[in-house]
Amino acid sequence: MANAGGTSTFIIILTRDSVRTDRRTITMKQTYISEVAAHAGESVTIKGWLYNVRSSGKLMFLEIRDGSGIIQGILPKNAVPEAVWELAGTLTQESSVIVTGTPREHPKRPGTFELDVAEIELVQLAQEYPITPKEHGVEFLMDHRHLWLRSKRQHAILRVRHEIIRAVRDFFDNDGFILADTPVLTPAACEGTTTLFEVDYFGDEKAFLTQSGQLYNEATAAALGKTYCFGPTFRAEKSKTRRHLTEFWMVEPEVAYAELDDVMTLAERFLSFVVQRVLENRQEELKVLERDTAKLAAIVPPFPRLQYDDAVKMLQQGHADGKVENFFEWGGDFGAPDETFISGQFDKPVMVHRYPAQIKAFYMEEDPTRSDLALCVDVLAPEGYGEIIGGGQRMQSYDKLISRIAEHHLPREAFEWYLDLRKYGSVPHAGFGMGIERCVTWVCGLDHVRETIPFPRMLNRLRP
Ligand code: 4AD
Ligand code: MG
Repeated sequence: MANAGGTSTFIIILTRDSVRTDRRTITMKQTYISEVAAHAGESVTIKGWLYNVRSSGKLMFLEIRDGSGIIQGILPKNAVPEAVWELAGTLTQESSVIVTGTPREHPKRPGTFELDVAEIELVQLAQEYPITPKEHGVEFLMDHRHLWLRSKRQHAILRVRHEIIRAVRDFFDNDGFILADTPVLTPAACEGTTTLFEVDYFGDEKAFLTQSGQLYNEATAAALGKTYCFGPTFRAEKSKTRRHLTEFWMVEPEVAYAELDDVMTLAERFLSFVVQRVLENRQEELKVLERDTAKLAAIVPPFPRLQYDDAVKMLQQGHADGKVENFFEWGGDFGAPDETFISGQFDKPVMVHRYPAQIKAFYMEEDPTRSDLALCVDVLAPEGYGEIIGGGQRMQSYDKLISRIAEHHLPREAFEWYLDLRKYGSVPHAGFGMGIERCVTWVCGLDHVRETIPFPRMLNRLRP
């Protein structure tokens, strides 16, 4: 009926009494599906795509989506000429259509609206759509991510992501923080030298994609007091887990004159705010995702605080009880199963603090009462989701920082500017970073991080 794959200046219009071919008449008039409740009984025009079409023989059900929602359009056979009915029956999934009709509240489902279809304007007849309502494998869906984003579940996840990002910004903006974004192209490592993506910088110098804005945050916090940065960060570690992306979005606050306890309090206030905001505004989406919202409602301050030493004891006891497979030796970093076990003991995020300095980054402040411990914190999300926040207090002393840089075999020249921060008015300061996708995974109750970002980048995936 229309030329598949192309756009024509002519369009097919199906009305209740005719089929017309006409010049394109895309009007400015448009009602979003999310707004139809306010227009019950009126004629509205919806611009979108056909999500699904089925026919009972007497009635045709056209599910129309426009990004703001999905509405079921109803076309009765006996209300239209035969030719209109037949043409409507050839409309394919994901064809772009402009539909005019009258919204009406469903008699048995209050709050749900259907559309009595009066006119369908076909914008493009879609070719056979690769994603059908049947089950598809994950790799197939990931290969078609550019189309997969059109499905209900993906809408729900991306809306929760958006809500979380908005809440993150509102929280810091309303708490006196200044957004001071940090560079993506950097000359040196922040989180360890083995996990960097290298970029050729005009032939004579190497640059690296940033792993964290923290070092620059420390400079902006010394300038502005309370700052945050929020942008894409990159990790080249070859981790193939359900928690790792190679490109992810991190929000990082940094506070001058703050100590470890202060940022733990900030982290629990922040996370609680974000989760409660999603509960307030995204009930529909959480329902689509079948999320147990009672578990999220429990996310309010205070969160349990657990010293690393005690977390180790907890793991060792778990091992003795046959609940943890391997014996955990003090001094090691937690693996995913360890984090899952520890966080499984609490129904709120647990803040594990004071890890051994030897397993943490060079910039961590040492515990004044135990120099083998770092003043750091990892926040582990409940229900086995593991680490979603990492942070702590930064090394304040110029001399100690120089020794740390040497111990970690880092090139001192690259850190001269960072050392300046300890030469000119050094103060205690602290901050943290939260990976947005880890947070979305937890809040949505997903089993993998890959669906929480429109186009995930992972060890084996750079496309589409
Ligand atoms: O614990 P990380 O590595 O900490 C830092 O980068 C600090 N410099 C942040 C700071 O103090 N300003 O990363 C922080 C958070 C993690 O808790 C996790 O949520 C997320 O970033 N993250 C990842 N998310 C997805 N994929 C990965 N590969 C991630 N690595 C870290
Ligand atoms: Mg970490």
